Amino acid sequence: MADPTATKKSPSPGATSPKSGSGTASPPPAAAAAGGPSTADPPPPPGRPAEATHTIDVDDDDATSDDGYGSSASVSAATTSISSSVRDSTFENNRRYHKFREGRYQFPNDEPEQEREDMKHAMIVHLCGGKLHFAPIDGEEDGRGGGGGGGVKDILDVGTGTGIWAIDVGDEYPEANVLGIDLSPIQPVWIPPNVSFMVDDAESEWLHGGERFDYIHIRHMCSSIRNWRKLLEQAYRALRPGGWIELQELRFVALCDDDTLAPDHVLPQLLGGVRDGLAANGINLLDMEKNASRVRQAGFVGVDEKVFKTPVGTWPRNNDMKKIGMYCRSMIYDGLHGITMGPFTRGLRWTPEEVEVFLAKVRKGLLESRAHVYIPFHVVMGQKPRG
Ligand SMILES: C[S@@+](CC[C@H](N)C(=O)[O-])C[C@H]1O[C@@H](n2cnc3c(N)ncnc32)[C@H](O)[C@@H]1O
Repeated sequence: MADPTATKKSPSPGATSPKSGSGTASPPPAAAAAGGPSTADPPPPPGRPAEATHTIDVDDDDATSDDGYGSSASVSAATTSISSSVRDSTFENNRRYHKFREGRYQFPNDEPEQEREDMKHAMIVHLCGGKLHFAPIDGEEDGRGGGGGGGVKDILDVGTGTGIWAIDVGDEYPEANVLGIDLSPIQPVWIPPNVSFMVDDAESEWLHGGERFDYIHIRHMCSSIRNWRKLLEQAYRALRPGGWIELQELRFVALCDDDTLAPDHVLPQLLGGVRDGLAANGINLLDMEKNASRVRQAGFVGVDEKVFKTPVGTWPRNNDMKKIGMYCRSMIYDGLHGITMGPFTRGLRWTPEEVEVFLAKVRKGLLESRAHVYIPFHVVMGQKPRG
């Protein structure tokens, strides 16, 4: 579904929606340069997801083949690798998966997938203008910080993955303790002294104790969470009064503000297949659309939602957005095998060979695409009342 408020081209680089930016933090540089995310828009009508209201300027000189960005030399197909933690792993179609609570997460945890996740981290931080978070946890806004007392002290990163965000935030807040939990023990050993990791299932009962954290961060979990309401209720209980929650999720739909996205484009087909495959395993990939209202229902106040556009490909005129688009397409291209094998074979009951045939078509289509396509990225945050 295209953004109904968007036009074919924005009148000038940096033009923003008249609605954006009021009453919240300034748009970050990358986003601001390219139009900025929509912030503090009125909540969408019930049943409709929030939409970004800015447009991304198109680079009319962008070559179809994207030489220098998307050539076959710079986008490699995913390969498999076997690492040492065999006892914690299970193998399927030449990919390594988590063993603890086996089957909960449908994507691999092997090295190619970890590299892809780290690339996704770089892409998202760039999209967010270098920010690791938007919630005001640094103590500057009201002089007290998250749970009170000069800035954030205890941070929880739910589904920490490679731990890259937790490590970065640990560096940014050396006075804070950062705990990252995940189904997979794939985090590095050499980490800042204030960061720790734990294997845990975020959808089980939390044993961290009540009112223990000042800030809870949940990112890229929409392909895994089956019960957002329960997760948010547990997070609410685990936060101290005044603490913040922040959810950062890609909304996996292919959108376009002009008529360049053909109905038979490979990206909507790919995303549709992944959605259907996950649905067969009890996961609604687009359930995250309701996160802002769920955060309110859980009791959080001051709830805000920002929506960014993540371009796929090098079509934007703005150099930052072009780089983000290049990352995004590589992230999809390099990850195709890992993204599809679980959902398509376990969920849709395709054979691995059928998946490979489909992927050959997707690879070709992604590289040839002239579509000005983007995937929305939603940031939702809210504060637990101070009591
Ligand atoms: C797409 S990755 C995102 C990693 C990280 N949040 C980031 O943004 O870089 C999803 C991660 O969530 C973990 N995960 C999925 N379901 C989980 C659960 N129920 N409890 C804990 N971790 C989970 C997976 O093992 C995987 O490492």
